[in-house]
Amino acid sequence: MHKLCIAMVGLPARGKSTLARRLGEGLAAEGIKAEIFNNGDVRRNLFDAESTDPDFYNPENAFGREARELICRRNMALVREWLNGGGEVAILDAANVSPSRRAMIEQNLRDWPVLFVECLNEDRLLLDASIRRKADLPEYATFTREAALENFLTRVAHYERAYRPLDREKFWLRVDSTANRILEERPCESSPYYPAIREILVNFWIKSLFLVRHGQTEFNIQGRIGGDPMLTAKGREQAGYLARRLGGENIAWVFTSTRLRSHETAAPLLARKPGAHTMAFPELDELWAGDCEGMRYSEIRENMPEVTAGRNADKYNYAYPGGESYAMLRNRVRQGLRRALFLAAGAPLVIVGHQAINRVLLTLFLRCRNEDVPYIYIPQNQYYHISMTAHRKIFERVSYETGFQAEI
Ligand code: F6P
Repeated sequence: MHKLCIAMVGLPARGKSTLARRLGEGLAAEGIKAEIFNNGDVRRNLFDAESTDPDFYNPENAFGREARELICRRNMALVREWLNGGGEVAILDAANVSPSRRAMIEQNLRDWPVLFVECLNEDRLLLDASIRRKADLPEYATFTREAALENFLTRVAHYERAYRPLDREKFWLRVDSTANRILEERPCESSPYYPAIREILVNFWIKSLFLVRHGQTEFNIQGRIGGDPMLTAKGREQAGYLARRLGGENIAWVFTSTRLRSHETAAPLLARKPGAHTMAFPELDELWAGDCEGMRYSEIRENMPEVTAGRNADKYNYAYPGGESYAMLRNRVRQGLRRALFLAAGAPLVIVGHQAINRVLLTLFLRCRNEDVPYIYIPQNQYYHISMTAHRKIFERVSYETGFQAEI
């Protein structure tokens, strides 16, 4: 029987554990017996108190060095046991940042091919946000947030000194973990699992994404575009319905634009989900209408007929004077989606967007002709629910004003 060990590589907060989970679940969905072995779990068992001291990770600290080697060896013993039993793929989830550590893994697990998967993420915003989240780790339970953060940053600095990218190892893949992209590889073609692994790495992996449009605003009633209006009473009611409809879901993150109407729509849901995190991304702000911001469609028709004519002729590519086109939205919206998916780390998430933003978001999942994008139906009392894993692709539009029976 073919066996393989996948060993993760990368500095903290680069998305290693998320990717390890995705690989585990993706391979399992293919009927392959895969299991994750996390060095952090072994460390917390063996050296819980000692390993909270950042000096534990200092490459010059002999005690820390030996302790971390012991942890790795213990974990590899578990990997060997698993692979010698019925297991097919073992996933070693650890930083493995130094070439000497990786050589030790290749040597220790020499009965099987070892495929290293290195995660890169150079997005400062994501790094900062992920590092801030580390303050929630169980080992920092007795720390203040600031102390936990400082402690973790010192730990990261030690890892950075030891870190060398993959190079001389026999089999490896380097992945941009925010973009689902393989940047470079030394393929392990002899492994029958390799094609499945590549597929898992490059595809969207979304358990549950709820794509919502903000509730009704005064501007919507008046037929005005853009601006930063607040919700009407009806809009607030819609936000309440949404909160009730999604109340039973295990929502971990709610992402909004920077606009009031998006925040107001998310508010009742966040109130019901005190454990959920939230973040506002300017990438999710509505199509910028430039000189036409705040105008009514009817005013534009009368006073700026060339704008209406331009949009009628080619709505996807037409940019408002001083503003944006749908075509221009694509990159920033994709960046917002990538950031949201990275931070949610595989957990269910909600994005509260706008009409044009949600149209573009949807087309990042659906194949659609560009000219059709600006006409996709984005109601204010229904959300799109998207789930995309190896064997499960769901795309549904769900009404939340009706369609639910009882308070969840
Ligand atoms: O009308 C609401 C709105 O969100 C505007 O702010 C935005 O300009 C518009 O929808 C986008 O839709 P369309 O491109 O169809 O005008």
